[in-house]
Amino acid sequence: MFCYGGGSSRLGVSVPAMNSVQSTSALDVSLMDRAARRGLRGHGHVEPNPMVGCVGVDRDGRVVAESHHRTLGGPHAERLLLQEHGSSLRGGTIYTTLEPCTHQGRTPACTDAILEAGLSRVVVGCLDPNPEASGGVELLREAGLEVTVLQHSPSHELSAIFRHRVTSGLPWVVAKWAQTLDGRLATRQGHSQWISGPRSRRLVHRQRGRVDAILTGIGTVLADDPRLTCRDVRARRVARRVVVDPDLRMPADAALLKTLDVAPLTIACSEQSMTAQSARTKELIGAGVDVLALRRTGDAGLALTDLLIHLSAVHNCSTVMTESGPGLLGSMLRSGLVNEAMVFVAPTVLGDEEAVSAINGFSPATIDEGIGLSLRSMHRRDDDVLLRYGVSSGGAASP
Ligand SMILES: NC(=O)c1ccc[n+]([C@@H]2O[C@H](COP(=O)([O-])OP(=O)(O)OC[C@H]3O[C@@H](n4cnc5c(N)ncnc54)[C@H](OP(=O)(O)O)[C@@H]3O)[C@@H](O)[C@H]2O)c1
Repeated sequence: MFCYGGGSSRLGVSVPAMNSVQSTSALDVSLMDRAARRGLRGHGHVEPNPMVGCVGVDRDGRVVAESHHRTLGGPHAERLLLQEHGSSLRGGTIYTTLEPCTHQGRTPACTDAILEAGLSRVVVGCLDPNPEASGGVELLREAGLEVTVLQHSPSHELSAIFRHRVTSGLPWVVAKWAQTLDGRLATRQGHSQWISGPRSRRLVHRQRGRVDAILTGIGTVLADDPRLTCRDVRARRVARRVVVDPDLRMPADAALLKTLDVAPLTIACSEQSMTAQSARTKELIGAGVDVLALRRTGDAGLALTDLLIHLSAVHNCSTVMTESGPGLLGSMLRSGLVNEAMVFVAPTVLGDEEAVSAINGFSPATIDEGIGLSLRSMHRRDDDVLLRYGVSSGGAASP
C-alpha cells in the first residue's frame, strides 16, 4: 500500500466520451489510477477502514468530480462524491477503488446512494473482502446498472492494509531501515546516527504520524535511546511505541519512558521475566506502560505473532512500522510477519565486515534460499535512494 506513488489530479479535465456499454478499457484503467491516487489522501486518517478514492464522469464523458474517504466514521468516498455532484452525474459513471458497501455501518450503504443518484455505470477497482459489506456488485447489477470489476493493482494496494487485517487478524507491517551502500545499519561500535539525510528522516517522521504503532527491539533502545515520536511534521494519528524486551532490560531513564505523555508504550517481555521481575512490572504498569507477557516459541524467541494479535485486538492497530536493528528485523522476517520494506540507502560505505548488518539470523547456502522481495518503487531523496518492496512472506501481502 505505501508503495503506491501519490500525485495530484485536476478536476474538469475532459476525457473521450464513454457510452454505458463500454467494457474495460485503457480509459477505465487510467481513471481508476486517478481514483487510487486520490484515495491515498486518506492514509493515516481512515484506518482501520480502507482507503478509497472515487472519480465521477458525467454522461458526456467529462470528469466532474473526485473524492476520497477522509475520516474514520465519516461518509464513504462514493457518498461524498454523490452528495456534492449527484445531479451532474445522473446517467454517468462512478469509478471507485473498492466495491461499494451494502451495509449500514457507521454510515449508510453506498449502494443506496448510487441507486438514488441514477448512475448508469459503476467501475470497481477491487472487491470488498469484508463479508458484512460485500455484495455491492451483484446488488447494483440486479438493479440494472452496468458494473465492471477491474483487476486493478493500485486499488488492491490501496485496500491491502484493510484486506490483510480482515483476512489474517494481523496489522500490516512495514519494515523500515536506513543502510549504507554496503548494507550496514551501524558501525561495529553501534553508531548509526545518522545514516540517512534530513529529507529521508523527515519522511520517516511523516510515516510515524500515519501508522498505529512503531516497533523496535531492546537492542536499539540500549544503543540509541530513541523516543520514536513523530516530530516537526503534522501527525494524523499518535503511534504507540512497542519494544520487544524479553528480559525487561529497558533502562529506568530511557527516553521512551520519559515521553509517556506524548505517546503510549507497550513492552513485550517473556512470561518468565514478568514473573521474576514482578516489582519492576508493577512499576512499569503503574507508570502507564502496557506490559505484555509473551510465550517463548522454542529457538525462535518470543511469539511475535501474539504481539501483533495483541496490537490489533487490544489497541486497534492496523499499521505497524518497525524501526529496529537486525535482530528484530530478522525475527520478524523469519516469522513471516513483514508485508512491506521501506529501505533508505545512503551514499556511505563502511567497508567493515564487523559493522552491524541489516538483517540477522539467516544462513542460506545458495542465493535462491535468500528472501525474495519485489521492488515496488524507487525515489531519490537528495543523495539517498528510497526503495520500497513488497514482501510475499507477510501473510496476505499486496498483489
Ligand atoms: N540504521 C537503522 O535503520 C537502524 C535502526 C534501528 C537500529 N539500528 C542499529 O541496530 C543496532 C541494534 O541492533 P539489534 O539487533 O541489537 O537491535 P534490535 O533488533 O532493535 O533488538 C534486538 C533484540 O530484540 C530482542 N528480540 C528480537 N527478536 C526477538 C524475538 N523473536 N524474541 C525475543 N526477543 C527478540 C532481543 O533481545 P534480547 O537480547 O534481550 O534477547 C534482541 O537482542 C544498533 O547499533 C542500532 O543503532 C539501526
